[in-house]
Amino acid sequence: MNERDSEIISQGLASHGYSASQIMESADIVIINTCSIRAKAEQKVMSLLGMLRKEKLLRPELKICVAGCVAQQEGNKLLNRMPHVDLVVGTQNIYNIAELLEKKTAQSKVATSMSDTYTIPRFIPEQDQALHTAESYKKFVTIMQGCNNYCTYCIVPYTRGREISRNKRDIIDEVNVLVDCGVREITLLGQNVNSYGIANSVTEGSSSYAFPDLLHEVASIHGVERLRFTTSHPKDLSSDLMCCFRDIKNLCHQIHLPVQAGSDSILQKMNRKYTIEKYLQKVDALRSYCPDIAITTDIIVGFPGETDQDFAKTLELLETVRYDGSFSFKYSDRPGTKSTGLADKVDEKTKTERLSRFQARQNEISLERNSAFVGKTLRIMVESAQSEKLQGRSEYNHVVHIESTSNHTPGEIFDVHIVHAGEHSLQARRN
Ligand code: 5AD
Ligand code: SF4
Repeated sequence: MNERDSEIISQGLASHGYSASQIMESADIVIINTCSIRAKAEQKVMSLLGMLRKEKLLRPELKICVAGCVAQQEGNKLLNRMPHVDLVVGTQNIYNIAELLEKKTAQSKVATSMSDTYTIPRFIPEQDQALHTAESYKKFVTIMQGCNNYCTYCIVPYTRGREISRNKRDIIDEVNVLVDCGVREITLLGQNVNSYGIANSVTEGSSSYAFPDLLHEVASIHGVERLRFTTSHPKDLSSDLMCCFRDIKNLCHQIHLPVQAGSDSILQKMNRKYTIEKYLQKVDALRSYCPDIAITTDIIVGFPGETDQDFAKTLELLETVRYDGSFSFKYSDRPGTKSTGLADKVDEKTKTERLSRFQARQNEISLERNSAFVGKTLRIMVESAQSEKLQGRSEYNHVVHIESTSNHTPGEIFDVHIVHAGEHSLQARRN
């Protein structure tokens, strides 16, 4: 999501005559697009801003802008702490960044207004200067913004606001423009795509239109070779959506289904609104509709009150589901969230131990699952083709390193023969 937001920021600036620079020392403006999901991400922003203070002393004309979730969360406080910052742009204000940069009054240094009736702006193809280049073979398309779930550990509902679904026409128009320009893979983006169309109407008429309808419609656009989406909340994963993996042939067989913890009592304290039994029923159903689907997840270890027994249940879940991969994190207190006020915080050492135990076992399982592809043929899309190093991606989302002597361009799709498996990637030969 941040990647797409960064792209929106650079497109907005490009349409006002700015161009991207790879060298910070010669840039007129430095924009830090920030994440505040865990304290560590926020600390990185603060240390980068500390470094930029020195740069600004040397070059007072340099403009420094902080965008995204930390900007939204801190607002004026950020400016007080870091007076060398010229502009603080919140999550719903990034589309206007060029206009905001051009205003010079002290008042306009902080743009963090948020509205519950916010509409995601229409895509302006003329602003996307990279659209016709070879790099443009896969794109993210935002379909929702914000979240209404209020998981007790999570800052997103506060930094990204209420859940808003984008008008369906705008999404279809955007995908049409992208494929006309040669884009072959589309990833639909939202905090919880499964609830698309629930909080607000997404069509001009009154008919109901849900995420599976959108998937079918986008998949049928000529030129969409591969379709993916992220992220799904397990509580809202419907049978209709699961059937899409069986029925839509260009929908990649891959789903990210964050579980967060393996213990029902922790899930309840997290306000996740499902039990492990319910979650496992959905995993089984997914695998019955689409036996080869790759499933990945997110895990938090050391949520307040998590006992050794609770953590053992997370490890047990890993053995039951055998995820293809996972992203795992130590619980981190976030300002304003409910769990920050909970007692029984787990100490840092225990969190570190649990995280490394979880990751070690996940790595073994990933390797076992990846090894099952050795000797098989997989269809890949080329992602980078620099000199002899050819890299592609399977529909299951594996990174595949390919030995090939011929020239290729990003976006090409062809079959490869898998010769070796690692924990995080596969190696292949061109058939
Ligand atoms: N501490 C640790 N991890 C968190 N996540 C969200 N909030 C926190 C937090 N306070 C993780 C969740 C989520 C992923 C994007 O980040 O696992 O799915
Ligand atoms: Fe955060 Fe929960 Fe919303 Fe995901 S569903 S963004 S974890 S509040």
